[in-house]
Amino acid sequence: MIEGYATVEGTSNYAKGIVTGQGHFRNFAGLTLSSLGMGTYLGNTDDATDNLVREAVKKSITFGINVIDTAINYRAQKSERSVGKAITELVQAGKIKRNGIFISTKNGYVTNDADVNKEFWEYIQENYTKTGVIKQNDISSGYHCMTVPYLDDQLHRSLKNLDLNCIDLMYIHNAVEGQQDISRDVFMKKLKDVFEFYEKQRKEGTIRFYGMATWDCFRMEKNDPQYLSLSQVLVLAKQVGGVEHGFKFIQLPFNLYLDQAYMKKNQSVNEHNVSILEAAQKLGIGIFTSIPLMQSKLVAPGVLPEFGNLKPALRALQFIRSTPGVLAPLVGHKTPSHVSENLELIKTSPMNESEFTQLVKKLSS
Ligand SMILES: NC(=O)c1ccc[n+]([C@@H]2O[C@H](COP(=O)([O-])OP(=O)(O)OC[C@H]3O[C@@H](n4cnc5c(N)ncnc54)[C@H](OP(=O)(O)O)[C@@H]3O)[C@@H](O)[C@H]2O)c1
Repeated sequence: MIEGYATVEGTSNYAKGIVTGQGHFRNFAGLTLSSLGMGTYLGNTDDATDNLVREAVKKSITFGINVIDTAINYRAQKSERSVGKAITELVQAGKIKRNGIFISTKNGYVTNDADVNKEFWEYIQENYTKTGVIKQNDISSGYHCMTVPYLDDQLHRSLKNLDLNCIDLMYIHNAVEGQQDISRDVFMKKLKDVFEFYEKQRKEGTIRFYGMATWDCFRMEKNDPQYLSLSQVLVLAKQVGGVEHGFKFIQLPFNLYLDQAYMKKNQSVNEHNVSILEAAQKLGIGIFTSIPLMQSKLVAPGVLPEFGNLKPALRALQFIRSTPGVLAPLVGHKTPSHVSENLELIKTSPMNESEFTQLVKKLSS
């Protein structure tokens, strides 16, 4: 097992060892984090994909990405295991230190195990229902469970899969989206239980920070039943963990097509209407963004406007990493040519705020 977690000194030393464009690394919560992260969602549940993901993680970390994102349900636990193997191999070879790398994962989906040859619900019954981890009516929307016993079970499976004793960031995965069968009041009570569990885990040293990885809730209009206010979530986090609470990050989709995080002023901070990206900056929350390439749809010729003399995938990533309020887009990549191409961006500086604003004006005219 690899011990430790991302530290102020470790992430700063990691950044010193990499040649990058100015501003590739940014500071958040004292940590030095790359403005491009890697995601591990898509892919088959086979050994060949495990090898691709493992090598992609190793190459990404070697050439300037120190933010790696996964989830227990990605490729039915195989993505977490592939990330774990990559980290272990790099640490054991002396190529990196654990304290230079920021690893996030997510719990909350009802998840089987692709390395166990069992039908999905048979696995769920054997591992969770019969053992009492999941009780009757615990599963919502047919795929989601956010009870403390289940999240406790999942966290310890994630640690084992990743072969780590501490995870830098644990997200509750698609909580609003997966819990549509309950009222908002009941949801907030459940979320409080989850935050209490995470705060306890922080004290025990199994996680450093926690957050919400989301799909719709932070992008919806205020009157949408799925809408969630970030300020309200922070009030809850403070109630549970005090001023030193560990709710520090959220994740949501953002790209040149799904632009609500930047465009929609659906959040309120001190009675001002702001976008979720602005709200997060004002409230001290870091945002990682998902599906930067719209699962490769944005990369097709002619889809994205030309700028910066960059290849299509790099334009998509450059736009997002330059958007004020974004810590890093998490790009899903494993095909070696994609990984090499995306890593070219590390040598380019993100646009500054005025270059970004000019580009937005040009794109919207
Ligand atoms: N609700 C949530 O929490 C949520 C939801 C969705 C995603 N996420 C996170 O966000 C990450 C990114 O999203 P995503 O993986 O769904 O979509 P994505 O990053 O928009 O796109 C990934 C796809 O683009 C391909 N690709 C990567 N680089 C390329 C390049 N240079 N040229 C052409 N194609 C390229 C990849 O192929 P190869 O893999 O073959 O290289 C893969 O098929 C996920 O991995 C996950 O960590 C979170």
